Order: sequence, then structure tokens, then C-alpha cells
Amino acid sequence: GGAEAAELAKQRISRRRFLRRSMLAVWGVSATSAVAGALFYLYPNLSGGFGSVLTVGKVSEFKASKPSEFKLEIQGVYHRPVARTYIIHLDASTQFLLKGDDLKSQLSSENVVKDKDGSYWIALYQKCVHLGCTVPFRDNCVSFKCPCHGSHYNVTGEFLDGPAPRSLDRFQLSIDGDNIVVNTGAINATVAHPDATTR
Ligand code: FES
Repeated sequence: GGAEAAELAKQRISRRRFLRRSMLAVWGVSATSAVAGALFYLYPNLSGGFGSVLTVGKVSEFKASKPSEFKLEIQGVYHRPVARTYIIHLDASTQFLLKGDDLKSQLSSENVVKDKDGSYWIALYQKCVHLGCTVPFRDNCVSFKCPCHGSHYNVTGEFLDGPAPRSLDRFQLSIDGDNIVVNTGAINATVAHPDATTR
């Protein structure tokens, strides 16, 4: 009779409610993990290795490897992210990327190491000096471009344009025999770009 129909209707409603809730739960979980993934990309957890002295690779390996992922096939520029650090290796054939006075000023600045073959080495901290996003290297432009607000840095981390107040920071790097050693506990901010002070 009527009581049975009412009971059935109640069951149907609670089933619908259950379905709606589980769909919400699934949506919630995937939305949360998407947001977490995006946040991790922008602000990765630095606890692993950050603040310590790391051997990031071998000079011989860096020099022997071809930067295959480079679309422009610029030989000798090699980059490798380690603990949110990019290792920049500029050999004699790629120093044309930094022209004239730029080359002199950029390569005489802090935390640029010249090895016995005349290659330059820089350990760039990939944290944007604007608001801290991770700055990926863009092969096709041979520069770093921040995905958050578009700050733009050249291959050595020098400020080019955008809202960032200065150039990217550099970690202390040293060559110990064949080892490339980076001290992620020692950051030396590069000198503020004169144009940036008005921003
Ligand atoms: Fe990189 Fe704002 S955080 S431009």
C-alpha cells in the first residue's frame, strides 16, 4: 500500500544521495590531487638535499653528453636539474650566446666557475626571485621563463624582463677533480639589475 511506496521512494532518495556523495568524493579527491600536483610543480618540497653539499655529476660526463633535448642543437650548453638547481655549462663554442660586454660582466660575476678547458659553470637556483615559482628552462628560447608572471632570465640567470626585481640566485659551485660540487646551502644573490630597481 501507501507505506510500501513511501518506503521505496525513501530508499530511492537515499540511493541517489549516496551516489551524489560518492561522485562528490571522487571529484574532491581528483581535484585535490590536481591542485597538489600543481602546487608541487610550482613550490616543490626542498627538504631532500637542499641546504647540503651535493656532487651533482662528473665534468667528463657533462662534456661528453649531447644536449639532445635542445631544439636549437646548441652544442656544449648543458643543463640538468638537481634539487631545484640547474647546472649551466658553457663551453668555448657556446659563449657567443653572451655577447661582448654582457659576457664579460656576466662571467666575472659571483659564483661563476671557469675550468681548466675554459668552460664556464653555473649552478642556478630555479626559484623565481619574484614570488618563488620554479622557472623552467625553455630550449627554444635558450632562456628561463617563469610560468607564473612571465619573468624572463637568460641562460646564465640574468634578469631580462618581467616583474622579477633582479637576476636568479646562484649556488656556490666548485670543480673537485672530475666532480661537480654544489653547495645548496650557499646562495649568493646576483647583483640587482639596474633596470629592475624601478619596477
Ligand atoms: Fe615568477 Fe612571478 S613568480 S614571475
